[in-house]
Amino acid sequence: MAFPPSFMDELVARNPIEEVVGQYVHLKRSGANLFGLCPFHGEKTASFSVAPDKGIYYCFGCHKGGSVVNFMMEIEGLSYPDAVRALAKRAGMEVPEDEQYQSRYRQQERLWALSKEAARYFHSQLYSPAGAEGLAYAQKRGMTPGILTKFGIGFAPNSWNGLVDAMKAKGYTEQELKDAGLVSEKGGRIYDRFRNRLMFPIIDVRGNVIGFGGRVMDDSTPKYLNSPETLIFNKRKNLFALNLAKKSKLGYLILVEGYMDAIALYQYGFDCAVASLGTSLTQEHAVLLSRYTEQVYLIYDADQAGQNATRRAIPMLEQAGIRIKVLKIPDAKDPDEFLKKFGAERFQLLLQESTNRVEFQLAAIGSKYNLAVDEEKIRYVQECAQLICTLDSSVKREVYSGRVAEAAKITMDAMKLEVDKAFRRRVAQEKKRQEKIDLAPMKALQPKDRSIRYDNMRSAMAEEGILCQVLRDPSLMDSLGRLTPESFSVPLLGRVFAQLLNRHRQGLEVQLGVLDDITPEEMAHLTGVLQRHQGPVNEKAFRDCIRTVLTERQEKAVSSDEDLLALRNKLKESKGTKI
Ligand code: GTP
Ligand code: MN
Repeated sequence: MAFPPSFMDELVARNPIEEVVGQYVHLKRSGANLFGLCPFHGEKTASFSVAPDKGIYYCFGCHKGGSVVNFMMEIEGLSYPDAVRALAKRAGMEVPEDEQYQSRYRQQERLWALSKEAARYFHSQLYSPAGAEGLAYAQKRGMTPGILTKFGIGFAPNSWNGLVDAMKAKGYTEQELKDAGLVSEKGGRIYDRFRNRLMFPIIDVRGNVIGFGGRVMDDSTPKYLNSPETLIFNKRKNLFALNLAKKSKLGYLILVEGYMDAIALYQYGFDCAVASLGTSLTQEHAVLLSRYTEQVYLIYDADQAGQNATRRAIPMLEQAGIRIKVLKIPDAKDPDEFLKKFGAERFQLLLQESTNRVEFQLAAIGSKYNLAVDEEKIRYVQECAQLICTLDSSVKREVYSGRVAEAAKITMDAMKLEVDKAFRRRVAQEKKRQEKIDLAPMKALQPKDRSIRYDNMRSAMAEEGILCQVLRDPSLMDSLGRLTPESFSVPLLGRVFAQLLNRHRQGLEVQLGVLDDITPEEMAHLTGVLQRHQGPVNEKAFRDCIRTVLTERQEKAVSSDEDLLALRNKLKESKGTKI
């Protein structure tokens, strides 16, 4: 039985794989993955991996793998529909009849439309007599008319039913207002959730209004009231102002804490700032950011909370393959205040001087140890050496070694020795890893499942690459050139690609876990592929993969031709890139 796609989307979203698997396997985090002892074969070292961001599990030992549904099938011995039912029950979801699914999809579209209407309503209120106070506050905070329009800033009047009435007049029901998180309820009566607040619409990368943040205009609390999680609003997956920042030509993104910071930056010419939605940064946020940039400036508030948040955000961004610069705002509590005090030029200087990851991390290591205690000093030096030896330039290694030596009051020679030692240890580890890869013959790339065979290894590797990349960043499917599912040499990969493409075009989640018509063996193979290709999304690599697939396809088409060899050589020359 096939379940409706959006039902499957929700089923998978509401059954996080790490939680479901975690009920059976003790998992430990390591980077983006969690590891544990494989429940499907006896083992003493943990080779069973779970990738929450990809929604899959995979065992590097026995090569079993799949989605959360496959896991339930395998571990509980259930059929596909029964596994789905079990997960639905776990998440308190009803298994839909077709009818229900239809209405759910329509419901989502209604909520987007309603939220957009609400944003229009709030925005128009700002310029009405009822909004005079809101407009004055916005002006006091330095927002220009252009900015108010650009961000769709609005005002929720001090009324219990202003929005309710306006939306009812547009044909929306009380239930829809509740579902959109725009109202509260007491004694069976609904009333405006946002009252007497400056309103910041939150807009996703597709341009849908999905929620709101509302700020009081004085010192009362809560300072911000945000929309609750709804069918269309997920704080872990969205960032404020990314809809604007993704269009920036600056080539980097700035991550700040507050809506006001993102807005001020935009106003001062840094049209690339985004803010999280009153929650700390999640891995999903980091992956989302990595779709749009390789370079992020992390500029959190100057207070201790901001600095702690910075420390937590760094590994997540790095895991997503993002280069990070950390900036601590001097003489102001946040970027908004800094810009207003000192202006854009000074801010630009700050960006230039911003410490890179290494400096921030050295400082972080330093703050852990008391250098007056010999033992701690030794650990400090060793830990710094481990970090420094990963740097790729000898100048950098020298510079940072010098700083650490100075801080620890040891000689530069001693520090150098320590870095060399850490370096040799790392090289040895790296060599071991490389040997393992080199020893793996071509055969190792051939799928374990005989029925999947790769006939054209070059094309198959590129096809794997394409799938991995679109799973990380579905928007890549907007620019496929001449690539179609039929271009694929491996039928399974082509079939999966076709499904993903379809889902993308229908605006559904693009994820392995939600596909149907895939056997457990095929799913195991696909998850293995996904776990092998780590690393960030890279448009150039993506285009190279496409070119390879198309070229190999072309070669196959003329393979009966006697000029094949000549053509092949010509193509090889023009390709120039290796995958
Ligand atoms: P201003 O104080 O007006 O400059 O706002 P800000 O955007 O700089 O906010 P601040 O730095 O105080 O907080 C950062 C972010 O945390 C805000 O943009 C909100 O998303 C969130 N936040 C702040 N206060 C609250 C609150 O009381 N409740 C909730 N849910 N979120 C808050
Ligand atoms: Mn602020």
